[in-house]
Amino acid sequence: MKSFRDRNRDNRPRQPAKANAAQSHPREAGAATRQEPQGRPEPKSAPRVLARREGALPAERLPLILEVAPNADYALLDSGAGQKLEQYGPYRIVRPEGQAIWQRALPARDWERADAIFTGDTDEEGIGRWRFPKTPLGETWPMKHDGIDYLGRFTSFRHVGVFPEQASHWDHMAGLIMAARRPVKVLNLFGYTGLASLVAARAGAEVTHVDASKKAIGWARENQEMAGLASKPIRWIVEDAVKFAEREERRGSRYDIVLFDPPAYGRGPKGEVWQLFDDLPGLTDLCRSILTPKPLAVVLTAYSIRASFFAIHALMRDTFAGMGGTVESGELIIREKSAGRALSTSLFSRWVA
Ligand SMILES: C[S@@+](CC[C@H](N)C(=O)[O-])C[C@H]1O[C@@H](n2cnc3c(N)ncnc32)[C@H](O)[C@@H]1O
Repeated sequence: MKSFRDRNRDNRPRQPAKANAAQSHPREAGAATRQEPQGRPEPKSAPRVLARREGALPAERLPLILEVAPNADYALLDSGAGQKLEQYGPYRIVRPEGQAIWQRALPARDWERADAIFTGDTDEEGIGRWRFPKTPLGETWPMKHDGIDYLGRFTSFRHVGVFPEQASHWDHMAGLIMAARRPVKVLNLFGYTGLASLVAARAGAEVTHVDASKKAIGWARENQEMAGLASKPIRWIVEDAVKFAEREERRGSRYDIVLFDPPAYGRGPKGEVWQLFDDLPGLTDLCRSILTPKPLAVVLTAYSIRASFFAIHALMRDTFAGMGGTVESGELIIREKSAGRALSTSLFSRWVA
């Protein structure tokens, strides 16, 4: 599967193979994780002491496959032969896609019309790893999601500043915020370029967005301006996700919705190491602890890991024992326009009150 190849390219440690691994889920970590902080890494906090949560397990709904269909802002046009052809606003982009082990459905001429191709074959940062067959393009370009303007971006990790499959979560979250008819506080951990934060703010929430990467936070702020949402209450915070959540727990800060989309492996701004298999149970428990008395949802996405959604489903259900509600788990997929094949991007599990 491609994810192995990508991870090797990213120069990050591989996840150890798990005995019961179902498959490795493909999307990799964001741009920031590559920049190793200088100097000695700051030790991470002592591991959280976890006790089994008391009470009835939440109801369950699985498998749930959340699908993003081709739309005016974004479309997976075709895939095959280890690549995908996508339309991001005005541009057609070709990127590697290891899961696309099938044949392309569109003729070669459609692929040859690409505006940008990720080659990744240089050590250069950012745009240097892209090839532009028609005319050289700038680092960013205007994009939209459901009426929200933001910037697409050619990054050195073959990412383009947005994960379109997350739109399923954004729509769901916006629906919860608007239906609540009261002030709603949202925490977006591992928030990257901020699309989820912008969607939440537009829906009326007060948002706290946390990411380890100063660069990603800078891009997110640019997106807020671009979206015309500068007046909306969003706090942008460069911080280790676990440390931030621990601090919020101590301070008594509480949230109605928590989103967390952690990479398999990452680094906080002071070098704090994030290892999903080691650290996810503690962070999930922390997310429960920082909920308001009338919370709405906690949404976890995971990718590039050798696990099934059953694993994160069990973790979420156990962690939200005694809270009522439902834990819904499955995969985020993108539906291809050419032949209707589904490209799985990540696993998710969400607790909904
Ligand atoms: C794949 S991105 C998340 C994508 C985002 N949810 C979205 O939909 O746009 C993962 C992010 O986690 C951040 N990250 C990695 N390790 C971190 C840590 N220890 N604390 C906080 N953020 C971290 C990276 O900088 C990156 O922006």
